Amino acid sequence: MTNPKSPLVDRYGQEAGHLQDGTGYSQLLPILSRGSCRSFKTDEVDANLVQLLCAAALASPTKSDLQQRDIIVIRNPGLKSEIAELMSEQSWIAEIPCLLVFCGNNRRQRRLHQLRNRPFENDHLDAFFNAAVDAGVALSAFVLAAEAVGLGCCPISAIRNDADRVSDLLGLPQHVFPVAGLALGYPASNRPTVSPRLPLDVTVHTDRYNEDGIDDEIDRYDARRNGLLPYKNQRGENRFGTSDSYGWSEDKARQYAQQERQGFGTFIRDKGFDLS
Ligand SMILES: Cc1cc2nc3c(=O)[nH]c(=O)nc-3n(C[C@H](O)[C@H](O)[C@H](O)COP(=O)(O)O)c2cc1C
Repeated sequence: MTNPKSPLVDRYGQEAGHLQDGTGYSQLLPILSRGSCRSFKTDEVDANLVQLLCAAALASPTKSDLQQRDIIVIRNPGLKSEIAELMSEQSWIAEIPCLLVFCGNNRRQRRLHQLRNRPFENDHLDAFFNAAVDAGVALSAFVLAAEAVGLGCCPISAIRNDADRVSDLLGLPQHVFPVAGLALGYPASNRPTVSPRLPLDVTVHTDRYNEDGIDDEIDRYDARRNGLLPYKNQRGENRFGTSDSYGWSEDKARQYAQQERQGFGTFIRDKGFDLS
């Protein structure tokens, strides 16, 4: 990383610098300077601490208080290895001390309708979407809580690469589905890497959505990001060749030029969701 300034400036660019002088900056510094962790000490995470973090995560907002998310803490080492094996293209996952799986759960809601003998009149995309969002909100809260007590985390969408197998291994019934895994442990390094983001002018809008100048902003972001955290490898070199100006936009365009999780919609429909 060249010429580090502050977590806020490194993250969002010079234009965000003035926010450092404002209210709340020092309290929010740990969040502003956070980063995902993929390399851990071998130390176990105490089971009570994991449970406390689950309590913090599930205290986060939940749509209409429906509470449509569950967390599965993987304690069985054999099961952890079997799940990690399904994601072996990311070799670091095999070494993680603790694995959790955040699930969307629309099953309990449907049970309430059976118990109280009321029709379930919302069998459409929103039922899936609300449960998925609820799980995402809890995931985010867990990450911030864990990082606040000195743990490192990395969400793992690769848990959905073989959703059928993961679902079998975890015994997920109808209307319960994995949203993301989460690697948890004590970070091998004390300082997380601050991953630069698009400038706030691009992603925070006032009153009305605005994408004026977006292409130039992306070019500028690519350049700023390359100055701070250049990519070590170029994705899909065999197919796309090497690029002298390889940056975030090229990396993301290459990433989604390859099919990923084409079967996930079928998996979710097979779980009983009507996505119309
Ligand atoms: C839902 C979700 C799924 C993710 N899945 C993976 C994953 O499978 N593998 C991985 O290395 N990182 C994964 N990440 C972490 C992102 O790559 C990471 O958040 C992003 O690169 C920004 O870096 P930062 O968190 O350090 O700021 C995931 C993040 C989220 C929110």
